[in-house]
Amino acid sequence: MSKIMLSNLSKSYKNKAIFHNVNVSVESGEMIAIKGKSGVGKSTLLNIIAGLETVTSGTYRLDDMDMEKKNLYQLARVRGDRIGYISQFSPMISKLTVYENICIPFIFDKKNPKLEEAKMKKIVELSKWFEVYHLLNEKIKKLSGGEVQRVGIIRSIISNPTLIVADEPTGSLDDETTSIILKFFQETKSNGTTIILATHSQLVAAHSDVVYNMTKEGLHIV
Ligand SMILES: Nc1ncnc2c1ncn2[C@@H]1O[C@H](COP(=O)(O)OP(=O)(O)O)[C@@H](O)[C@H]1O
Ligand SMILES: [Mg+2]
Repeated sequence: MSKIMLSNLSKSYKNKAIFHNVNVSVESGEMIAIKGKSGVGKSTLLNIIAGLETVTSGTYRLDDMDMEKKNLYQLARVRGDRIGYISQFSPMISKLTVYENICIPFIFDKKNPKLEEAKMKKIVELSKWFEVYHLLNEKIKKLSGGEVQRVGIIRSIISNPTLIVADEPTGSLDDETTSIILKFFQETKSNGTTIILATHSQLVAAHSDVVYNMTKEGLHIV
């Protein structure tokens, strides 16, 4: 459950303006899709929402926090606590197994060392959902592209984020994998998780509550 409010947000790199005047609010349990031409700033905006980049001006409120006031270190802590970031390509350690790759976020999770059983349950539940349970002990290099992407998604959400940020999550996937992911989004959304994604896919947009078109001048409901 995460609530988001972006007001008058802008981003520049040095003197290069990427976008300005972004205003959006997203309620808990809502799924919004952002479309727009390549290069318009979708990934940059999602990186800001995911706490991977800072804001140039304007405000970004996530739940009770003023995210625009935080530095990258503070943003990383918020990300670890409540944000799951899914990218188009998930970097994996190919020598490790699927299971070991999924466990990577736990290396940084010192809060609850006693949660082993709950973590195991979650890995089993998600790997069944994403149809990679039978692959848990395989090395990553044996998997197909679609399977690797599903493992990447599991790893992104294994710590129960309240906000999922997904940058073209189905960009390179077959229809079957896309539909597994969409079904998961519907399910997790109904449990209150907020989802913000960039996509070129009509199918993904059709499953979203609100679809925005992004231009350099901000976001407009399609
Ligand atoms: N670190 C950076 N430094 C300078 N320019 C960047 C940086 N990251 C992205 N850009 C520029 O920002 C613009 C928007 O990129 P991006 O957010 O990736 O757009 P989209 O995801 O919509 O294709 C592009 O012109 C890109 O070259
Ligand atoms: Mg992009």
